[in-house]
Amino acid sequence: MNTITGRRLQESAEATSRRWIVIGLVYFVAAVSLGVVMGASHDFRLKAVHVHANLLGWVSMVLMGLVYRLYPSAAASRLAGWHFALYQLALPVMLGGLAALMLGQPGAEPLVGIASVVMLAAVVCFALAVWLGGGRSVVHFGQSQTAA
Ligand code: HEM
Repeated sequence: MNTITGRRLQESAEATSRRWIVIGLVYFVAAVSLGVVMGASHDFRLKAVHVHANLLGWVSMVLMGLVYRLYPSAAASRLAGWHFALYQLALPVMLGGLAALMLGQPGAEPLVGIASVVMLAAVVCFALAVWLGGGRSVVHFGQSQTAA
């Protein structure tokens, strides 16, 4: 890989990684706020929304952002684009549907079902992007890193 291409790849991976982390932070603030509201009101009906916003919104997004930083070729792949689009579409629909379901709207169930399948497709795209396009990690633990 020549230096220019390598640098472009790094910059693109950095942008992808940052996008996931910034959106994850938004979900983190929202999910923890919901936790505080649930605790204060003793109304735990939205517990499933709190849990999924924390785990799929915050924990998973930040982890995926960090994985893309480690594997720049995966971050630059078309699968990574599909991963982002499908995930960002599925999660708010899933959380909204779950909220409606938990607040007594059984009609929201198909919405949650469809969003969950789209979410699964997004997760498979991520896994394939890393498996097929990951290549070598740019971080080699236990070895000294040389400056670019
Ligand atoms: C200030 C921060 C947070 C507050 C105030 C909060 C509040 C709550 C409340 C009130 C419940 C319901 C407990 C019950 O049903 O008795 C809950 C459940 C839960 N929260 Fe949080 N939470 C916070 C942060 C987090 C974070 C960061 C995560 C994960 C990354 C998380 C994961 C969970 C899980 C998995 C449950 C379900 C536990 C169970 O049903 O056994 N929470 N939280």
